[in-house]
Amino acid sequence: MDVPWQFRPATRADAAVLAGLERRCFSDPWPANAFTSALHAPHMQLFVAEAGLEIVGYFVGRAVAGEGEILNLAVVPEQRGQGLGRWLLEEGLTRLRQAGVGEVFLEVRASNAAARALYRARGFREVGRRREYYRHPVEDALVLRLGLAPA
Ligand SMILES: CC(C)(COP(=O)(O)OP(=O)(O)OC[C@H]1O[C@@H](n2cnc3c(N)ncnc32)[C@H](O)[C@@H]1OP(=O)(O)O)[C@@H](O)C(=O)NCCC(=O)NCCS
Repeated sequence: MDVPWQFRPATRADAAVLAGLERRCFSDPWPANAFTSALHAPHMQLFVAEAGLEIVGYFVGRAVAGEGEILNLAVVPEQRGQGLGRWLLEEGLTRLRQAGVGEVFLEVRASNAAARALYRARGFREVGRRREYYRHPVEDALVLRLGLAPA
């Protein structure tokens, strides 16, 4: 299927732009140095989706010893509802699987209905709850898990 987005790896030059997008997507956003640290850290998968030359979505995941974690995933508000979140998630899962991951975990705000529906539709299931895990506002995190078939 043709999609109007291109994926590319994130670079250090993207950190400030990504931090700006974070502020539009989250009430408790990652600062630029969180992206810079993630870009330097081992075992990380960071990529962006572009429409033309503009970053409109991004994915941050980690693969360690067969276990994957989705640390961040977002789509800019004006591009939502067109399938980009699903594409980012699928591309991220493909990359984690290629890195040897057999199961993936993530945390999501209990009130985040859009993200919960996205993950549920892809097969993630709730396996735990971290009480008052988030700030701004304080809220529980649900821990979700998905098993992946080998690449
Ligand atoms: C969650 C998010 C990434 C979804 O991105 P998106 O591009 O709008 O999602 P898609 O268009 O690909 O939708 C895929 C599925 O997600 C779910 N979904 C997306 N938006 C939804 C909404 N507003 N309400 C309910 N379900 C929704 C649906 O299951 C949808 O499938 P469908 O179209 O067949 O119904 C986006 O809303 C976002 O960036 N939110 C802010 C950041 C965030 O919360 N990230 C997740 C952190 S864990």
